[in-house]
Amino acid sequence: MNIEKSPARTELTTGQVTGTDVLYSRKTLGQLAGVFADEAARSAMDPDTVVYEVLSRQTVPEGTPGGLFFGTSILHPGKVGNEYFMTKGHFHQRREAAEYYWGISGTGMLLLSDEAGRCTAQAVEPGSLHYIPGFTAHRLVNTGAEDLVVGACWGSDAGHDYGALAGEGFPVRVVERGGRAVCEER
Ligand code: F6R
Ligand code: ZN
Repeated sequence: MNIEKSPARTELTTGQVTGTDVLYSRKTLGQLAGVFADEAARSAMDPDTVVYEVLSRQTVPEGTPGGLFFGTSILHPGKVGNEYFMTKGHFHQRREAAEYYWGISGTGMLLLSDEAGRCTAQAVEPGSLHYIPGFTAHRLVNTGAEDLVVGACWGSDAGHDYGALAGEGFPVRVVERGGRAVCEER
């Protein structure tokens, strides 16, 4: 039997994903209206500024039961007003679907919020491992001066529900106060 070369790779130090079935997406400040508290500060910034990029390997169509997706999120450093750059954040469409995140490089926070709005924050650093249970919204925040690079693995039928957070959003915001990152409740 032939021993095949793996059809894809992830670089352990950078999180890069290459090979077959790799998708790329990015979010710019212009696409993140309503996400940061200081909307005036956001709209005064260059809308083409890239806030985060996601590489994912999706070998089955989105929605396929039982499959897995693998991805790397690269969240650039920066702030809107005094609020650190962060991902939009989402619940999974299939609410019970869990996910794993792990820190690859950089430092930041993972915000978790249950459906009742009870929020916790976990420090993300190289090697930190984060189990995101079902029924839990999740958002990454880059509180450092370099890229925050985070790996992820989630179900191909998990889906994303951004709408549930579109109104009030996360109950907690991560802002800089006196040179350090603090979590402030709404
Ligand atoms: C997948 C997942 C991550 C995020 C990525 C971007 O379920 O949690 O791959 O999709 O970090 O964040 P969002 O999707 O919130 O824009
Ligand atoms: Zn997710």
